[in-house]
Amino acid sequence: MKLFLASGNAHKVVELQWLADAANLPIEMVSARVVGGMPEVAEDTGTFVGNARKKALALRGKLPADAWVLADDSGLCVDALDGSPGVESAYYAGPQGDSAANLAKLIAAMRGVPTEHRSAHFVCVLFIAGPGGAEHIFAGKCLGRLSEAPRGGAGFGYDPLFVPEGHAESFAELGDTVKSTLSHRARAWVGLAEWLRGMP
Ligand code: IMP
Repeated sequence: MKLFLASGNAHKVVELQWLADAANLPIEMVSARVVGGMPEVAEDTGTFVGNARKKALALRGKLPADAWVLADDSGLCVDALDGSPGVESAYYAGPQGDSAANLAKLIAAMRGVPTEHRSAHFVCVLFIAGPGGAEHIFAGKCLGRLSEAPRGGAGFGYDPLFVPEGHAESFAELGDTVKSTLSHRARAWVGLAEWLRGMP
């Protein structure tokens, strides 16, 4: 089964394909690039579910009636910043969606915040849209804290700053294999995988 991924983020395609393979599911993740790119979508609903749905339906509108589309909306919620950047994670430092600038802004915002107040969590909503208006939502969360300085070269986005609970290394130090066992995306995937297994 093909799942068209409503995202221009190549890392998400890799992580989701890894999760499908690890679950032994015969799923081929197809990047929106293959079908002419992800349509422009204003991520302005204020919720992960709303934004994920908007992205899924935007891509689905470009595809044949029998196509299934998967959208991922995710972000980092920092307790000391009242949940920011949250749904705005991709555009924290501005509308251009520059992940290095987003990371730099977060490091600056957290400068001087003591260790005990550096808790944060990633959220992931996976939204699947298919034939006949079918819509299903799966969510996952990963608790952790923010280090003072970025560490590691793997992953993307805020990975160099995020240290998941139970670990001393950042996601970017732990690498994709470990990240894929405990990330917010992996946890949302558990529900989606179960649903995919039950499909006729
Ligand atoms: P989205 O593409 O609109 O869902 O934006 C997600 C944003 O949240 C990304 O651009 C990253 O900044 C951040 N993000 C989401 N998931 C991750 C992750 O697994 N690692 C690091 N950053 C992430």
